[in-house]
Amino acid sequence: MNFDQYFSGKTAIVTGGASGIGNALAETMLINGARQVVIADFNKDNLETQTNRLKEAFPGQVIGILCDVTQEDDVKGMIDQAADFFGGKIDLLFNNAGAGLSGAFEQLTNQDWEKGFALNFYSAIYGIRHVLPIMKSQGGGQIVNTISGIAWSPMALQSMYAATKSALCMMGLTLRYELWDDHIKVNTATPGTTATAIFGDTAAPDYAQTPMQSAHRILLGVQNNDRLILGDDLDVEGAKIAFNPEAASQMDHYFLEVARDRKQGKWRF
Ligand SMILES: NC(=O)c1ccc[n+]([C@@H]2O[C@H](COP(=O)([O-])OP(=O)(O)OC[C@H]3O[C@@H](n4cnc5c(N)ncnc54)[C@H](O)[C@@H]3O)[C@@H](O)[C@H]2O)c1
Repeated sequence: MNFDQYFSGKTAIVTGGASGIGNALAETMLINGARQVVIADFNKDNLETQTNRLKEAFPGQVIGILCDVTQEDDVKGMIDQAADFFGGKIDLLFNNAGAGLSGAFEQLTNQDWEKGFALNFYSAIYGIRHVLPIMKSQGGGQIVNTISGIAWSPMALQSMYAATKSALCMMGLTLRYELWDDHIKVNTATPGTTATAIFGDTAAPDYAQTPMQSAHRILLGVQNNDRLILGDDLDVEGAKIAFNPEAASQMDHYFLEVARDRKQGKWRF
């Protein structure tokens, strides 16, 4: 399936846009006619490299803004700068920046939890809070929050990742209806398993898709204004089964196996 001119002429901000899925979202929208895109990231070197790469292919259509999404002032400043670059109108905001946040619960301090929520949850609050007045005054817009299948797949040693992403999931699903009549679409997206820097030193599973494949599927869901965009078929299966009472013992069996393997150092999903 392809994009029916949906992104044509649109402006978009992508946080975490200097790497992986965010970078692929920005590039795919530009390839499909987006007028201008801002990539926002706190990794200065990657931001410079990726901004230059995209600028070369799409002159005048891209800027990179250095922004730490855990800092509300940074996010507000980034949105103001993006609005200036776009000539006032912001069609799409992708709250995509995030990290995998693994660690045994007993090792995690309050400071770790605060940092985790700052990155994977509060960053989106800041983005939404500061883009809403602009979107409301222009009569509409679209906000896409990147969650993860872990929002409903309780994988041991990632309690913080699961908690931050399920909080973001439910916030986005709720706002969808709160903002619907203001013509602001809110989509909640899992990227599926995607080979990016998020895996760090661990190899991505061999079934992982590429960032461009993930971005394509997410953007089709954005075009379709899907409530929940599921980034690969495993996420679709997971979403169907996660809270099904009839599958409870199957869920226990599977996630207990994952937990035991992970605790023995065998990282699996
Ligand atoms: N890759 C996967 O399999 C997968 C699966 C589910 C969900 N996700 C989610 O997709 C999103 C994108 O991840 P990715 O896989 O492309 O990883 P990635 O590491 O390639 O990209 C994440 C980007 O976010 C940026 N970032 C991190 N902290 C930031 C901060 N404080 N301020 C600004 N930018 C910051 C990083 O510099 C990086 O450029 C994340 O929210 C992640 O949780 C990824």
